[in-house]
Amino acid sequence: MVKKLLFSEKSLRGTISVPGDKSISHRAVMFGSLAKGKTMITNFLAGEDCLSTIEAFETMGVKITRNNQTVIVESEGIEGLKEPLVPINLGNSGTTARLLMGILSALPFHSTLYGDASLTKRPMDRITIPLKEMGAMIDGRENGKYLPIAIRGSKLQPIHYHTPMKSAQVKSGVLLAGLLTDGKTIVEEDTKTRDHTENMLKAFGADLTVEGNRVIINGNIPLSSCDIEVPGDISSAAFFLVAAAITPGSEVKIENVGLNPTRTGIIDVLKLMGVAITLEEKRTVGGEPIGDITVQSSNPKAATIEGEIIPRIIDEIPIIALLASQADGTTVIRDAEELRYKETDRIESVVTTLRALGANIEPTNDGMIIEGNANLTGAKTNSYGDHRIGMMIAIASLLTEDTVELHDDKCIAVSYPTFFDDLNKLLQ
Ligand code: S3P
Repeated sequence: MVKKLLFSEKSLRGTISVPGDKSISHRAVMFGSLAKGKTMITNFLAGEDCLSTIEAFETMGVKITRNNQTVIVESEGIEGLKEPLVPINLGNSGTTARLLMGILSALPFHSTLYGDASLTKRPMDRITIPLKEMGAMIDGRENGKYLPIAIRGSKLQPIHYHTPMKSAQVKSGVLLAGLLTDGKTIVEEDTKTRDHTENMLKAFGADLTVEGNRVIINGNIPLSSCDIEVPGDISSAAFFLVAAAITPGSEVKIENVGLNPTRTGIIDVLKLMGVAITLEEKRTVGGEPIGDITVQSSNPKAATIEGEIIPRIIDEIPIIALLASQADGTTVIRDAEELRYKETDRIESVVTTLRALGANIEPTNDGMIIEGNANLTGAKTNSYGDHRIGMMIAIASLLTEDTVELHDDKCIAVSYPTFFDDLNKLLQ
């Protein structure tokens, strides 16, 4: 499918709320399925990735009903989970894959997992290696590096694991295996990654403590069901925050966005680059702060973006690269080699796409160098099946009078099915 993007109005004004957070929606379904009782999830993200998580637990016999953004999970707890009779389709979802492997490794049955073409190319050894150290019986292509993967669940040993890469999915997968294993499992990381697993497991009654960058979970303590209100996804909000910053005459307010400090790097980057942004923190639900963010058109300045902030902006780098192409000066992004393992190699896909649109941008091993003040032009572009590249292209098209062709816009439904509705609401 090709979408022709040519917007006659180029400024964005108004107030929207973005759909629920993808990471939190996944975890709410997973932990609700592991807990005995009824879990009500509100403002659930009904994007394709989170629907893959629902489908996975339905395949294991959990009763899950959804009415738009409200999901009810009714589970008999871990003992009630049944061996899936068919292979589990993870679609495009890395989070479902890595977290589910932690759970399935410790359950007393066999399961098989597969995904779409993109997920089939993404590395799974980052999670199968620590799980095998815990005693998990996992096999897959290249000794469990790639999907399809088969798991024969078994009794595991606790582990003290130092994650070699900055990955919340790896941390969470090991913690979930630890949740289902006698004894104390410890996961340590050099740079803190998103901590929704820790916050929500505590809300479900797990015996979990956080000491700096070390998380300790005492396993085999049953979870108790707990209602979850999902905050708006700051990674989805980021597209409109940047769009407002770089289109003249814009002012956009996004309400009820999750402001967990492990996710708010985009706010720090916008401030660092001189964008007019205000925040109003309103309340905290299940350990997750929620508030409103307002951005006005600005004249952004280039910045060097590196170090501990990278995991806090890992999903926002494509749209930050577009912002940098409009800033004064040269922006350098470093320490972001994890981009190579996303839905696409996002160093390659961002560079190829922004170049096609007329930006001056160079890839590096672990990031990119972006010259500012680019005059973007029309082009034939491709999302390469990556939702965040698709949305970056749509926002870039606001900066040119020419038509931008976007091949494969469908993938945007992975995380933001109502993206074009919200864009149209804000266009003035
Ligand atoms: C996620 C963690 C991040 C992020 C992904 C969602 C999660 O991946 O890019 O979109 O829900 O834990 P990594 O932990 O692999 O960096």
